[in-house]
Amino acid sequence: MSRAYYFPSIVLMGPGSVELIVPEIKKMGVKKALVVTDNVLLEVGVADVVLKVLDEAKIEYTVFSEVQPNPTTKNVNDGYAVLKENDCDFVISIGGGSPQDTGKGIAVLATNPGDIRDYEGVNKTENKSLPIVAINTTAGTASEATINYVITDEERKVKMVLVDSNSIASVAVNDPNLMVKMPKSLTAATGMDALTHAVEGYITAGASDFTDMFNLEAIKAISKSLRKAVENGEDIDARDMMAYGQFVTGMGFSNGGLGIVHSMAHQLGGFYDLPHGVCNAVLLPHVIEFNAEATGDKLRDVAAAMGENVEGLSTEEANKVAIEAIKKLSKDVEIPSGLKELGVKEEDFPTLADFALADACTPGNPKAPTKEDVINIYKAAY
Ligand SMILES: NC(=O)c1ccc[n+]([C@@H]2O[C@H](COP(=O)([O-])OP(=O)(O)OC[C@H]3O[C@@H](n4cnc5c(N)ncnc54)[C@H](O)[C@@H]3O)[C@@H](O)[C@H]2O)c1
Ligand SMILES: [Fe+2]
Repeated sequence: MSRAYYFPSIVLMGPGSVELIVPEIKKMGVKKALVVTDNVLLEVGVADVVLKVLDEAKIEYTVFSEVQPNPTTKNVNDGYAVLKENDCDFVISIGGGSPQDTGKGIAVLATNPGDIRDYEGVNKTENKSLPIVAINTTAGTASEATINYVITDEERKVKMVLVDSNSIASVAVNDPNLMVKMPKSLTAATGMDALTHAVEGYITAGASDFTDMFNLEAIKAISKSLRKAVENGEDIDARDMMAYGQFVTGMGFSNGGLGIVHSMAHQLGGFYDLPHGVCNAVLLPHVIEFNAEATGDKLRDVAAAMGENVEGLSTEEANKVAIEAIKKLSKDVEIPSGLKELGVKEEDFPTLADFALADACTPGNPKAPTKEDVINIYKAAY
């Protein structure tokens, strides 16, 4: 089967790699950046590291920092207005998934007419976005590497998924030095988001040998390093391996797709403004249990990549080992055990299920779910 795969053109990895943006930006023939970030990153000094690099290289920029977690259509529109007022011709996004996704939305609006809501779904724009230099600070959503972005439509309380190869960054940066200030809970949540990408991406209907290679490698890297990164945030080797793992699965899931862990988690994020990674982590074992009969022997590979011995086990036994290994990792990094603890309301399940079935990630699920199935998974995860 012929198909296209998309990657950022330039990838800068490793401690100190943020400095390497300078020669790349100089080659791009651009004049002024809109820096898209959030106020917490300005306060804790993470954004400053990048701004200092830009100042020293005399690269002009204007800062837009009004991005909120689970970013909204308003965040995108406000940022786009700042970009126009200041004649910026490229975007530098600094942050986790929220500034990255907002940066993509802004860069897309700058070259395409209409409203960001017009572009919900798959490949809806005609024109390539403005160039984006995407500097990641969590590990992570891999938004710096992917063709996806997620924006909450405040009116409908829905997280819109926009899958669009026109939105991919030109330069993707994963410098673990920018990640050491992440608190434990953020490290755990974003790390479990990355594990979810890798596991869902490995069993998705859209997987190929090519995407499998990335996703399996990511499962290994994340399983080896997440506990260490949570335990000691200053462990730069663990941070570096997490940055690598989350990026590698980005190249996998961006080109193969995901499944209903994400469809269901998106609704929890849109409805209750909950952290994306926590929602994924709570749902993941329950969705895998639902999917297991449709994943062949692939969960055996997941278990083995997580360091479990599955030799000689039946497929059913190996599936159980994979599910238990994921539950154990989640528990070890202190992810809440259920949706009830997160303030989710059971009476919302039918509405959440309707929205989840309409989510762009649902067709990728290995087993087609009914509304009843989705409600039952929410109940099991409660
Ligand atoms: N585009 C994609 O492919 C994709 C994939 C998964 C998730 N997402 C989306 O990404 C968003 C979540 O992103 P996220 O989990 O990276 O979190 P985030 O960007 O929402 O950040 C969460 C909080 O962590 C803080 N933070 C970020 N980096 C930090 C650092 N290095 N040190 C200290 N604090 C830091 C931020 O300031 C913010 O307050 C959700 O909206 C989710 O839907 C997108
Ligand atoms: Fe995610």
